[in-house]
Amino acid sequence: MSDNGFTLWFTGLSGAGKTTISHILADELNARGQKFEILDGDIVRENLSKGLGFSKEDRDTNIRRIAFVADLLSRNGTPVITAAISPYREIRDEAREMMGDRFIEVYIHASVDACAERDVKGLYAKAFSGEIKEFTGVSDPYEEPLNPEVVIKTEEEEPEESAAILLAYLEERELIPAAVKS
Ligand code: ADX
Repeated sequence: MSDNGFTLWFTGLSGAGKTTISHILADELNARGQKFEILDGDIVRENLSKGLGFSKEDRDTNIRRIAFVADLLSRNGTPVITAAISPYREIRDEAREMMGDRFIEVYIHASVDACAERDVKGLYAKAFSGEIKEFTGVSDPYEEPLNPEVVIKTEEEEPEESAAILLAYLEERELIPAAVKS
């Protein structure tokens, strides 16, 4: 069995690019025959975390559940990509402690202004008007990672470039097979 399990733990604001980049990575990993799972905040909140809201307590519960599943999978050789805001440093550090070397923190960075400008889901407008309360980066905290393994700057990079940086990092650590040359 492969012992190459790892967790690529994305953290960043809503709209920073976590889901987009995870999908590009997924395509590339599939092309290389590399198995993996994705735990995306929006999807986890429809099932495993159904009913949870956005208080600190609920976010912590959501993130602990994601970390629990990521740990189970990654320790059995299945790489995991998590894509949730995971705004609190303490809980991310808990996940790091749980997974040790398997935990790779990736800060998907874009400013609040840039995310609000993109406003793909129309949520920032509602957050600024007060219609949505406790919105991360607007009316709720986002604690930046202090020592992430990788920083991705989505205001400067195209999503494909960001994915390429992450693939190169994983290749360098010999966690995934190299791309097949065509
Ligand atoms: S986390 O804080 O618990 O990590 P998660 O990533 O699962 O959050 O869910 C964030 C998604 O929920 C956002 O991308 C957005 O679509 C939606 N959302 C709804 N309300 C909020 C809010 N108050 N703060 C942040 N995201 C919200």
